[in-house]
Amino acid sequence: MSRYTITTALPYANGPLHIGHLAGVYVPADVYARYLRRKGHDILLIGGSDEHGIPITIRAKKEGVTPQDIVDRYHEMMKKTFLELGISHDNYSRTTTSIHTRTAQEFFLKLYHDGKFTEEETEQYYDEKAGEFLADRYIVGTCPKCGNTNAYGDQCEKCGSTLSPDELIDPHSMLSGEKPVLKKTKHWYLPLNEYHDFISEWILNGHKNDWKPNVYGQVKSWLDDGLKPRAMTRDLDWGIPVPLEGEKGKVLYVWFDAPIGYISSTIEWAEREGKDWKPYWQDKDTKLIHFIAKDNIVFHCIIFPAMLKAHKEYILPENVPANEFLNLENDKISTSRNWAVWAHEYLEDFPGKQDTLRYVLLTNAPETKDNNFTWKDFQTKNNSELVGIFGNFINRVSVLINTYYKGVIPKLSNPSDYPELEELSKTAREISSYLEKYEFRNGLTALMNLARLGNQFLQVNEPWKTHKDNPEKTADVLFVSAQIAAYLAELSEPFIPFSSKKLLEGFNISYHSWNELEAGKEILPGGHTINQIPLLFEKIEDAAIDYQIKKLEDSKKENETTGKEAEPQKDIISWGDFEKIDLRIGTIIEAKKVEKADKLLEFKVDTGVDVRTIVSGIAESFSPEELIGKQVTVLLNLAPKKIRGIESHGMLLLTKTPEGSYSFITPDDKITDGSTVN
Ligand code: 2FM
Ligand code: ZN
Repeated sequence: MSRYTITTALPYANGPLHIGHLAGVYVPADVYARYLRRKGHDILLIGGSDEHGIPITIRAKKEGVTPQDIVDRYHEMMKKTFLELGISHDNYSRTTTSIHTRTAQEFFLKLYHDGKFTEEETEQYYDEKAGEFLADRYIVGTCPKCGNTNAYGDQCEKCGSTLSPDELIDPHSMLSGEKPVLKKTKHWYLPLNEYHDFISEWILNGHKNDWKPNVYGQVKSWLDDGLKPRAMTRDLDWGIPVPLEGEKGKVLYVWFDAPIGYISSTIEWAEREGKDWKPYWQDKDTKLIHFIAKDNIVFHCIIFPAMLKAHKEYILPENVPANEFLNLENDKISTSRNWAVWAHEYLEDFPGKQDTLRYVLLTNAPETKDNNFTWKDFQTKNNSELVGIFGNFINRVSVLINTYYKGVIPKLSNPSDYPELEELSKTAREISSYLEKYEFRNGLTALMNLARLGNQFLQVNEPWKTHKDNPEKTADVLFVSAQIAAYLAELSEPFIPFSSKKLLEGFNISYHSWNELEAGKEILPGGHTINQIPLLFEKIEDAAIDYQIKKLEDSKKENETTGKEAEPQKDIISWGDFEKIDLRIGTIIEAKKVEKADKLLEFKVDTGVDVRTIVSGIAESFSPEELIGKQVTVLLNLAPKKIRGIESHGMLLLTKTPEGSYSFITPDDKITDGSTVN
C-alpha cells in the first residue's frame, strides 16, 4: 500500500466553474483518486478555492463589492458544484482561513530566516491617481514579443509569453487608465536562478520518460531561457500580510500562498479527522501528484518545487499530469465573452445527468492536445454510447435474469466454454495500466469495450432462442453475461460513480477491491439474488440540445453588440459650459438629398423658435421620406456653417453605436416643438 497526496489546482474564486476546468483538472483527478482508493492505497484528494490575487480584486472592483463578497459567493458555488459532480475531495478548503494564513506565513518566515530570499529595492510602476502599485494584471500595455496591445504585466495571453511589467510598451494602469510612474519599493525575491541545476537534474534527467511531453517540454524551455529571481511579495491590500515587523501594505504573492493552500487544506483535514498531516507532505515514500491545466505548469514544476526545496522539510511532486485546454464548439472558452458551459447551469438543465457530463468530458479530455466539446457530440455520446451500449447491455441482462430466473443468478456448468470470462480481469488490469499512466480516455475506452463485448456475446448466443430447448446453455450464457454486467458496475465507478452505485445496489453486492477484480474474482455467484436494476441513462432529445446551442448563439450575439468598446470619455467640461448649450425638440417638416453629395441631407426643421435649414451627413443611413414629420433633438445655438454652399443653422442629434449605426433622439410621445432638453 502506498500513500498518495493528490492535489487539484485551486480555482480562483472569481467566477463559476465551466467544463474546461472540469475536463482539464477535476474529473481526471477524481477518476485517479477513486481508482487508487479501490486499489487499497491511502489517498488524500485535496482541493480548495484560491481567494487571493488580482483576479479577485479586479472582479470586486468591476462589481463594486468587496473582495470578501466575491470569494464568499464563488467559494460556496464551486464547492457545491464539485460535490454535486461527485468530485471526491477529502477536503475542500479556501485560502482565506486562519489555518492557511498561519501556514503560509510560517512557510515564508522559515525561508526568510534561513536566508532563502534576497531583499531588493526596485522601481515599480505606481498609479498616482489610484495611490497603488501596479502588480501583474493591474498593468496593461503592448506585448514586446507579438504586439498585442492588451498584454498584462505578468503575461501576454495572445502569444503566451511570460512578461514583467517593465517589458510592456506604453504601459497603463487598469485602475485609472493613467500612465504609471516609477516608484521605489522593497520586495523579497526567491532567486530561482539558483535552483536551475536542481530542477534540471530532477525533471530533465529524472522524469524524461514518465512525465507528459507537454509538461516536460515547457519545463525545458523555461530552463533553456534561464530562470530569474522572482518576487514573492506584492504591494496590495488584499492577500496574506507579509509577517515581518513594520512591513505594512505588503502581502504574499498569490502564487506563493496558493500552492501552500494544498498543505493548509491537508492540515484542516487532519485536524478534523484527528490524523497527522505530516506524512502526506514530508514522508519521502508519499507520492505527491498535482492535477493542473497547462497554464499552471511553471508554478507547479518550477516555483513551488523551488519553495519546497528551499524549505527542506517537504517532498517534491512525483508527477504533474497537466492537461491542455478544452474548446467549446471550436472556439476558445472565455468567461468574459460568456462562451462556456457553466457547470452549475448544466446541473440545473440536466438534473441527475452528472455521469453523462463526466463521461463526455473524459472521452474529450485534452490529454495531449487541445480538444473540443460540442453539444451534438455530447448528445451522440449519451444516446449511442451510454444508452445504446452500456445501458442497453445492463438492461438486457437484468430483464433476462428477472424473466427467466426470477432474479436469481443461474449456475455455470461449462466454464471452459466461455473465454469471455477471461476478459473480466483483463479489462480490470487494462484500465489500471492506463490510469496509472494518466490515460483516462484509454481507460474509459477499455471499460466501454467490455460493454461492447457483452452486447456481442448476447447477440451471438441469443439466450432468448435457447431458453426452451437448451436450459443449460441459457443458464451459462446468462451467468457469463451477469458477470460482465457486474464487472462493468464495479469498474465504472471511477468514471461514472453515480451509475456505478445504482448498479451495485441493483446487483445487491458491495464494492470489491480493484485487486480482486484484477485477479478475476467471481463477484456474482450462482444462486445470488439481484434487486431491480434501474434504468441508468435516458436519451437526450434534440430540443434539449437545441436549447443549449441557442444559449451559446445568444451569448455570441450579445458579444457582437456589446463586445465593441465604447469610446473613452472626453475631457471634463464645467457646468457653465453645459449651460451654454441650447438643446430643443423640433419637427422635420422637409427633407431632401443634397445634389452631388452622397452623404448629405438638407432639412427644414420647426424648432418652435423658428423654421430653419440644417444639413446633416446621414444620407447613407436614412431616406428623406421616412424622416418627414419626425420629432428630433436639435442643437440650436451652434455657429452657422456653410456645407456645399448651403448654410446650416444647428445640428440634429443622433446616437452612434460602437459599430457605427445611427438613430435619432426622439421623445417617447409627441411634445411641443421648442421644448428644452436638459
Ligand atoms: O490558475 C488558477 O486558477 C490558479 N488559481 C491556480 C492555483 S493552483 C495552486 F497553486 F493553488
Ligand atoms: Zn504577446
